[in-house]
Amino acid sequence: MNEIAALFRRLSHGVYVIGVADGERRSAFTAAWVTQASFDPLLIVVSVNPQNASYDILRAGRAFTVNVLEHGQTELARRFGTSSSRDHDKLAGVSWHAGGNGAPVLDDAPAYFECEVQDRHPAGDHELVVGGVVGGRLLDPDAAPMLYAETGDMDGSSALFG
Ligand SMILES: Cc1cc2nc3c(=O)[nH]c(=O)nc-3n(C[C@H](O)[C@H](O)[C@H](O)COP(=O)(O)O)c2cc1C
Repeated sequence: MNEIAALFRRLSHGVYVIGVADGERRSAFTAAWVTQASFDPLLIVVSVNPQNASYDILRAGRAFTVNVLEHGQTELARRFGTSSSRDHDKLAGVSWHAGGNGAPVLDDAPAYFECEVQDRHPAGDHELVVGGVVGGRLLDPDAAPMLYAETGDMDGSSALFG
């Protein structure tokens, strides 16, 4: 891994599965670039690659969930982060239900947020999607959240720093 890629790995992130819905069209993808952005109102920002199949659903439906992954849930990170819903239904075979905003909530996630899209801002090859938090639950207060470092180069990003 080159030095710039290693440097950027010093930014700490969690790992999340972002569920999206537009009516009955649903999908989900893994994301590490997720952060709280405001207390009042409560806002969460997700940096989304517009090439993700989930992006069109997110734009149209304006609803998403942020499913927190727990330390060790590497297979969920891989399932939702290394293949596209263009090719297969990533939610098939996973236990989930529709949240209050219609977007998928993973039953194995120790915590989740429900958001409604308030704003979108271009950011280079990604887009910052700002979500107002409209719901959420902490189901397992003892679960340690997964850290991005645990996923190694699962996202293939080390090759993207030039
Ligand atoms: C650990 C990890 C972190 C990722 N973080 C992001 C992210 O923050 N934003 C993003 O748009 N894609 C991120 N990805 C890539 C998407 O999850 C991946 O491109 C996915 O296949 C898109 O699925 P879709 O085409 O079904 O929407 C990440 C992948 C992994 C494995």
